[in-house]
Amino acid sequence: MKFTKRFNVLTLFPEMVESCCGCSILKRAIENNVIEVKTINPRDFSLDKHKKVDDKPYGGGAGMVLMAQPYVDAYESIEKIENSITVMLTPQGEVFNDQICNDLAKYDQIVLICGHYEGFDERIRTIISPREISIGDFVLTGGELPALCLIDSISRKIEGTLGKIESADEDSFSNGLLEYPHYTKPREYKGLEVPEVLLNGNHKEIEKFRHEQSLERTKLRRKDLYDKYMEGAEKL
Ligand SMILES: C[S@@+](CC[C@H](N)C(=O)[O-])C[C@H]1O[C@@H](n2cnc3c(N)ncnc32)[C@H](O)[C@@H]1O
Repeated sequence: MKFTKRFNVLTLFPEMVESCCGCSILKRAIENNVIEVKTINPRDFSLDKHKKVDDKPYGGGAGMVLMAQPYVDAYESIEKIENSITVMLTPQGEVFNDQICNDLAKYDQIVLICGHYEGFDERIRTIISPREISIGDFVLTGGELPALCLIDSISRKIEGTLGKIESADEDSFSNGLLEYPHYTKPREYKGLEVPEVLLNGNHKEIEKFRHEQSLERTKLRRKDLYDKYMEGAEKL
C-alpha cells in the first residue's frame, strides 16, 4: 500500500497518539491511505528487566531523565525510507509555524520523537541529530500533544486530507495574512447582519472585501505579519 506520508511516533504513551488519530479528519485520512501513523514505544526496547526508560539526573535535581538506550534503539528499529526527516519535540527547539509545516510536508516520512518527565538524556540528541521543534514558549508534560499538532497541521497540507485542498490555501498564514471573517446562515442573528457584499454574488467584489478584511484583521492582531506582508508587497 502506498501512503502519501508516513509518521512514525516514538512515544511512551502510544494511546495518546492513537486516540487522536482515531477521530475526525485524521481518521478519514488514515482510512483513505493518505497518511499512515505508526507508534513505536521505547519501553519495548528497554534492556532493563523492569522495562525502565528513565532514571534520576546525574548531578541531582528534580524529575526523571529519559535514558538514551531505549530511545536510540527504538529509533534505529524504524525503517528509514528515502526523503525522511527526524524531529524531536522540545520546548528548546525552533518555534513551529506554517513555513516549517510546509517544509516538513515535503518529506515522505517524518519520525517524531516525544519526550516526557524532565526530558531527554542529551546523548539522544547527539546521536540522532534531529531537527528540534517547539510548539511555543510554554512547557507541556510530554511531546505527544506537540507531535499531534505537527501530524494534524502537516496532514492538512496533503491532498486528500481535507475535502477541498483549497480550504488550506486560504487559511491564515498561507499568504502571510490572517484569514478574513466567515459567516453562515442565518442572514441575521441577534440583530447582527451578514455584510451585504457577501450576498450579491459578485465574486470580484467579494474577493476585494475579503482581502481588505484580511489586511485589517492582520494589522490589528498581528502587526509583525502585517509589516512583513506590506514590505513584500512594496517590493513587487
Ligand atoms: C516537561 S517537558 C521537559 C522540559 C525540559 N526540562 C526543559 O525545560 O526544556 C517533557 C517533554 O515534553 C515535550 N514538550 C514540552 N513542552 C513542549 C513544547 N513547547 N514544544 C514541544 N515539545 C514540548 C518535550 O518532548 C519534552 O521532552
